[in-house]
Amino acid sequence: MAETSKLPETFYSTNKIDFSKPIDTSNLKEKSTIVTGGASGIGAGVVTAFAEAGAYVTILDRNEELGNALVEKLTAKGLHVQFTKVDIASFSSQTTGFKSAISFSPHKTLDIVVTSAGISTSTTSTKWLASNADNDDPEPPSTATLDVNLTGSFYSAHLALHYFKKTTPEAAPEGDATPQSKQIIFISSLAGYLPARDALDYQASKFGVRGLWKSVRHSHDIVSEHTPFRTNLIAPTFINSPLIERIVPGLKAKGQGVGEVDDVVGGILRVACDEAIYGRAVAIPVRREVAGDRNFDLGDDWEGRDAGPGLVEGIVNGGLEGLQLLSHSSAEGRLKGVGTRG
Ligand SMILES: NC(=O)c1ccc[n+]([C@@H]2O[C@H](COP(=O)([O-])OP(=O)(O)OC[C@H]3O[C@@H](n4cnc5c(N)ncnc54)[C@H](O)[C@@H]3O)[C@@H](O)[C@H]2O)c1
Repeated sequence: MAETSKLPETFYSTNKIDFSKPIDTSNLKEKSTIVTGGASGIGAGVVTAFAEAGAYVTILDRNEELGNALVEKLTAKGLHVQFTKVDIASFSSQTTGFKSAISFSPHKTLDIVVTSAGISTSTTSTKWLASNADNDDPEPPSTATLDVNLTGSFYSAHLALHYFKKTTPEAAPEGDATPQSKQIIFISSLAGYLPARDALDYQASKFGVRGLWKSVRHSHDIVSEHTPFRTNLIAPTFINSPLIERIVPGLKAKGQGVGEVDDVVGGILRVACDEAIYGRAVAIPVRREVAGDRNFDLGDDWEGRDAGPGLVEGIVNGGLEGLQLLSHSSAEGRLKGVGTRG
């Protein structure tokens, strides 16, 4: 291969993740963790796994009922979890949530932020593009999905870097977590990689989160002198959670597999616990009845051609097939040839 396999001088990611390595959750002990959207689905799975590993977890979510129920369940087991009601699309509301996490933590720090809050209203569609409303002024489309998924993640990243800096060991009491362990784990989606129809707002928001992650990742060398931190991205395909429960029966009827929340939690734990992983994007494919970790590294970097070959392999070899349904075309048929081109 030509020179392009060489990383540019600026460090922005470590090598591809080795998924055969066991995950050691011991370094999550006493980590001060925020999980946005932690009341339900993937977020609730992360809250549970982190709390069981000994982390102090703050759920930032708008769903009080689910959030409080999860806190009750986990604190009954002696775990450290609190709920703070927050609208993720509001900066002041999120700021209050971040402060509450720092107060709750044993060393008054912030160590890990997982951005799981999200909605999928799909208020925009290709019907929008096909509409012929010459006579009427159009109604403005809803930006709710962008507001929560993208602006919310943007605020989370801004607040995370601010409070990471404020709570680095120089400023924090003895015994604080090591600075490398501070990290932002962005939850995007495979909808942030592959084109889909009928969900323009959702897709734009998830490509946006991916762009945000790439930019934060590239800030490493600028900020590392003051605030070392890590960042990684998680890109799940269809996951059996309340977000998509209404479409799961239809997907299954078409023979489409879906992943489970545990598969995503496994991907998040892997990047959270291994401090040698920086700047990697992890795909969570649909579940197949095979042993072992089926998650894989998308290669979303210079060496991996921005995940292009990783996506082709995922579609051709299985696991990402759900995206064919979203793209309304036979991606498998089209991509099989691509995989064999020289
Ligand atoms: N389920 C999937 O198929 C799938 C696939 C790819 C990516 N994702 C992403 O994973 C993340 C988690 O999704 P999930 O499947 O667990 O969904 P979910 O609906 O179970 O959980 C989302 C949580 O976000 C919270 N939330 C939504 N808007 C909020 C707001 N304005 N302020 C505060 N909290 C808010 C909800 O109350 C809920 O608890 C989302 O970002 C989603 O886009 C999900």
